[in-house]
Amino acid sequence: MTDSTTTFERIPTAVFPHNQAAVAHVADAIERLVRERADAGQPAVLGLATGSTPVPLYRELIRRHREEGLSFAHVVTFNLDEYYPLEPQHPESYHRFMREQLFDHLDIPAAQIHVPPGDLPRDEVHAACTAYERAIDDAGGIDIQVLGIGRTGHIGFNEPGSGPASVTRLVTLDRLTRADAARDFRGEANVPRYAITMGVGTILRARRIFLLAWGRAKADVLRQAIEEMPSDTVPASYLQSHAASEVILDAPAASELTRHRSPWLVGFPEWSTTLTRRAVTDLSLRLGKPLLKLVDKDYQENGLADLVTSHGPAYDLNIRLFNEVQHTITGWPGGKPHVDDTHRPERAEPARKRVLVLSPEPADDILAMAATLHRLVQHGHEVTVAYLTSGNLGIPDTEARWAAQLMLEANAAETDSLARRVLDELARKSDFDQDSADLRQFKAYLRRSEARAALEQCGLNATAARFLDLPFYEAGTYRRFTVTSADVESVGRLLHEIQPHQIFTTGAAADPSSVPAQSFAAFAHAFRDAAKHAWTRDCWIWLFRSDGREWPLAEIEMAVPCSPDELDRKAQAIYQHRSQRHQTPVTDRASAEPWEQAVTRNRTTAGLYDRLGLAEYEAIECFVRWHPMSEASTSTAT
Ligand code: GLP
Repeated sequence: MTDSTTTFERIPTAVFPHNQAAVAHVADAIERLVRERADAGQPAVLGLATGSTPVPLYRELIRRHREEGLSFAHVVTFNLDEYYPLEPQHPESYHRFMREQLFDHLDIPAAQIHVPPGDLPRDEVHAACTAYERAIDDAGGIDIQVLGIGRTGHIGFNEPGSGPASVTRLVTLDRLTRADAARDFRGEANVPRYAITMGVGTILRARRIFLLAWGRAKADVLRQAIEEMPSDTVPASYLQSHAASEVILDAPAASELTRHRSPWLVGFPEWSTTLTRRAVTDLSLRLGKPLLKLVDKDYQENGLADLVTSHGPAYDLNIRLFNEVQHTITGWPGGKPHVDDTHRPERAEPARKRVLVLSPEPADDILAMAATLHRLVQHGHEVTVAYLTSGNLGIPDTEARWAAQLMLEANAAETDSLARRVLDELARKSDFDQDSADLRQFKAYLRRSEARAALEQCGLNATAARFLDLPFYEAGTYRRFTVTSADVESVGRLLHEIQPHQIFTTGAAADPSSVPAQSFAAFAHAFRDAAKHAWTRDCWIWLFRSDGREWPLAEIEMAVPCSPDELDRKAQAIYQHRSQRHQTPVTDRASAEPWEQAVTRNRTTAGLYDRLGLAEYEAIECFVRWHPMSEASTSTAT
């Protein structure tokens, strides 16, 4: 870390190109502690976290145990939290998670493992929390505490409002936290409302703390935790007061830190195209002045004296930036045939392109680019939309029951129909039992029919849809997916068959455990494997976002405007994914319906272009180009 970064960063923060390297750093610290203590005949006390973030760390510890003889026989562990009420054998309980992800694979005696109890009667909870605190003290205190961070800025389950002196206690979960857990629990309504968590104060008593985070979706909250004054609105910010806490990030998670986001505030950066664009567009938005009205003084007074001195005056910079941003806008996402394309995002030739959209799950495509898809079809391109995974985990049982009932109505005479088997299974199973292969297949059919209906809204024939049902997804559950060569080969076969001129996809820089990140890894691998074929050299790849956010303004390379009518059509298309609508009553949900969110995002982007002084559109869909062979893309790809 340099001095300049410390001006903004209030916790030591290490950024690694990839989470594997980050995990090795933390595993080294744990290994050193465990070996030292074992040599001294003393226990090492670890504070452990759940969620997908620490899973790669746990895999690495298991590897060192198996391959390098690292013994955990003298390790004592305390987990941060547990849902309440929840039985320890429940598939989503943190008891079970820890057994499956770590403890079952180590030589740690069961008596040395502590996880807060989620199954006690309410009137025993307080005493159990006090006993948990005492047990930590009796063990000599926590030596190393591992933390993840929730999107609300929580550590453990210390939601906004948790103070720095809080101790182990029963807490009410934030709506956003419950919405984030909805997929694991198959619907927000099934997510427990409470949890037992170590307090912020309990965590701060640990001798050493590592907070881990991966993926771009957490970048905003991490900037707040690391760079803003400590406050209970972002409980992770209290780590600033700890003498030995460290934040460990991969590059996408660090992308909003000042040193990356606005490096001109911490030194004299190389003024690359993107950086200049970010500095100038930020300035314009912050001052509420269109690009063409910025003056030298605006630059000088806002930390951009170096830029305006080396690349100014303001007039020249303004015009250059205005043109650059203007050139990102196109109503021809497949390229405008037979015109000069020097300043257009896509090339003009070939006039009719083979376009392949790779959507990790059904609906990702439509949410991000329904209007763009419609334009591509209108402009005569040959569009194929491939859904990489079946998305069957995202279908609630209630939807499957409704659909199976409908099928049975139409087919009442059949005694051993799939519909009847599905209905029998749904009658038998609890919400949390694993779905049988039959039921998963049935749910996949539902998503297929929704995807086809949505594509038709975009003017695409239903036969344009391909369903790869990648094996990594069929074999896994949320947050626990791993791509294998079978997935890469499947995507590779499709690429080879279509030989596209243009690919639209997503998942670079996403949380590595997410479906989009795993899907992207399979694609990136397959594409690089195909590099010897000539078609790959004439194939442009465009990325959309699929994590509920939009590309930062300065990174957008293609902005496709939507008229009010096109935006309506997009909302209609999203609406076809009926299983993805909220399954909980309006009063009980954290966020707007999917089509509302998508429309708001696209309108917000249009609003930003407008504020910069460009044309005022109803909405904009946007994309960033991905260069498969460049170093930058490889570091975020997998
Ligand atoms: C839950 C856990 C936290 C964890 C957070 C983030 O809320 N209680 O300890 O940090 O999820 O989860 P993930 O790592 O899956 O993003």
